[in-house]
Amino acid sequence: MTQAIDIFLQEIADIFAFTRKDALEMIVAFHEEMENGLKGKRSSLKMLPSFTRRPKGNEKGNVLAIDLGGTNMRVLAVRLLGNGKVETIGVKRFSLEKDIVSKTEDVFFDFIADCVSVFLKEHDLDFSCEVGFTFSFPVVQTSISSGILVSWTKGFTVEGVEGHDVVGLLSKAFKRKGLESLKLVALVNDTVGTLVTKSYANPLCDLGVILGTGTNAAYPERIDRIKKYKGPWDSDEMIINIEWGGFDRIKRTIYDEKLDRDSENPGNQRMEKMVSGRYLGEIARLIIKEAFNKGFFGAKAIKDYFSKPYSLTTEKLSLLASDGDTINASGTESISYEDIWAIKEIGRTVSKRAARIAATAIASVVTHMDRNLASEHIIAVDGSLFEKYRGFREHMEIMLEEIFQDSKDKIQLSLTHDGSGIGAAIIAASLSFR
Ligand code: GLC
Repeated sequence: MTQAIDIFLQEIADIFAFTRKDALEMIVAFHEEMENGLKGKRSSLKMLPSFTRRPKGNEKGNVLAIDLGGTNMRVLAVRLLGNGKVETIGVKRFSLEKDIVSKTEDVFFDFIADCVSVFLKEHDLDFSCEVGFTFSFPVVQTSISSGILVSWTKGFTVEGVEGHDVVGLLSKAFKRKGLESLKLVALVNDTVGTLVTKSYANPLCDLGVILGTGTNAAYPERIDRIKKYKGPWDSDEMIINIEWGGFDRIKRTIYDEKLDRDSENPGNQRMEKMVSGRYLGEIARLIIKEAFNKGFFGAKAIKDYFSKPYSLTTEKLSLLASDGDTINASGTESISYEDIWAIKEIGRTVSKRAARIAATAIASVVTHMDRNLASEHIIAVDGSLFEKYRGFREHMEIMLEEIFQDSKDKIQLSLTHDGSGIGAAIIAASLSFR
């Protein structure tokens, strides 16, 4: 039996392998998709203009930010000191339960407005300040303060928002809740916020990446290369929200295909479904289920524990990576050391591929900006996968080294906490400061 599971694990490792050759091929395809997206041609990368550029670092003021896009929503008040430094006046986290993210538009936006109200009262803050709104979904912006949601991602399904201006919807909820004096001046993606936050302090930063519930990145593009944007713009760069979770020129396993078929948005967000925190546990669960059905695992507890879709969260998978006992603690029957080892091995295989794909996506954007790596690049990265998943960052560093070899040191991954919300505040402040 031990031998059979070893063979199964080896087969899984083989189909999930993402080699240097795969990486180099992905970079070529990624460049093509970026170019097509910038030209407005068919592409799996949306390449969305953000109507903002990197800050100068001297922006000042007190601003409010709403940061929404994962399992939590945060409201924060910050003070920009004008020397690249930001002081947080207050921050409060609200959990976004399933019944909020699957309701109708009015219930959803009223909930956000209520959270803002609670926050302002608790911190005794002015109700007429400017607000930056980080809304981390694919939005086609028509200006810095308006944008239409293309499609929900990451399991959100609120009715009545796709195809509508999200700032308009939030403003209406503000009105319903007596918050009409708040001025929603900036609509921002979390990747844009992360890039802006890091580059407020360090001008060498030119990529913002999220590796959390979802995955995506934003970078400053030369305005003459954004062929699809014909409008006026007062700078030679504009930040582009790549929406790289949609990248689809990447080989998938039968497990990826099954996950995609059974998801809320089949066919969409293919790379995100191979890389991000919302999905890694589920890929591992599908493999574990298959192994159980093949008779490789002894304890029935494994079947019970892993039978429900999305019951194995990436957080649990990450805990397992460091401590196998989490299963036995909630199982009905004790699970053998060998079985736990095999489950951990599956988790390692799935997360290693994710980290290598994420690193390759970073390499793709960096070489789009700077083909021969002539300059240094600081990559602002936020999200629980990068920060907390054991071994994830290390696997990314190894992949970058395989790709760039001696030039690898030109690329520095830098953890940037809470950049998504703070970035929206910096952008909001920069608008009144210009
Ligand atoms: C999803 C969203 C994207 C966001 C990312 C990270 O991919 O579509 O807008 O940036 O998640 O939160």
